[in-house]
Amino acid sequence: MGRKRRRQQKDDTENQLEKKRQHIEVLPEGVHHYEHINQVPLEVQHYFRQRHNIWSKYDDGVWMTDNAWYGVSQELVAAKIAQHVALMTPDNKSILIDAFCGVGGNTIAFALSGRWKRVYAIEKDPATLECARRNAEIYGVRDKITWFLGNCFELLGPGEKAVSGLRELVAEYGIIFASPPWGGPGYKLDEVFNLNTMQPYSLEHIFNEFSSFTRCIVLYLPRTSDLSQIAACVEEGKKGQVVHYCTKASSRALCAYLGDFAKLPPAA
Ligand SMILES: C[S@@+](CC[C@H](N)C(=O)[O-])C[C@H]1O[C@@H](n2cnc3c(N)ncnc32)[C@H](O)[C@@H]1O
Repeated sequence: MGRKRRRQQKDDTENQLEKKRQHIEVLPEGVHHYEHINQVPLEVQHYFRQRHNIWSKYDDGVWMTDNAWYGVSQELVAAKIAQHVALMTPDNKSILIDAFCGVGGNTIAFALSGRWKRVYAIEKDPATLECARRNAEIYGVRDKITWFLGNCFELLGPGEKAVSGLRELVAEYGIIFASPPWGGPGYKLDEVFNLNTMQPYSLEHIFNEFSSFTRCIVLYLPRTSDLSQIAACVEEGKKGQVVHYCTKASSRALCAYLGDFAKLPPAA
């Protein structure tokens, strides 16, 4: 092989290596985009196998934390919920707050629905919020969402950490969607899930906090939730609605629609 040809080959290899180097992103601490099951911690391998059901655009570079695999909403379920929330919310409400946005499963579906003037997403864990922002970018809706890092009860509360004007804005134009932590995968073992001992926040705590300033609350809860505890949150003389969201003919979770929501049309 001539000297010229060898030099050309060397240049080509170096160019390829440089391209590869540029391609390797440095992810924030605690954030992953696993490509192969060998990289995945044992506890989340079961969820990783379902990654393309959870995120149809997983391969575009979706970011996850290891904890987020347990709580993220599957894309189809999130889209159905977003469709229902859009149908049932009174017309004068144009802002949706996702109080526990996680890595963005529901937030992104709400933004994609096109129903909301603005979606506000709150998450207390910095790495998880980074994932949500990145994932919203992949789905083309990052700019439709306003992101807040912090404790939703403090940011929406009347105290000193409150975001100025947010509580009043929500009181007039907003609804709250809340998919709180359920206290780990142990909830699956309960025949009837006790919402009053849910960790770290009980149903009573969540409902009391949010209902002090809005009458439209959607709660995303375990499928076996104690319905009598949900009914206790419904104002006397009014009706609440509970909708189960199923995949493969079995319920994954339910949403409780509490407050001024229209009745869900049977075919929706
Ligand atoms: C079940 S996950 C939400 C999953 C989300 N719906 C999704 O599809 O990605 C609950 C999230 O709430 C966050 N969280 C817990 N307490 C919070 C609080 N007080 N304020 C804001 N976020 C909180 C957790 O860090 C976690 O990411």
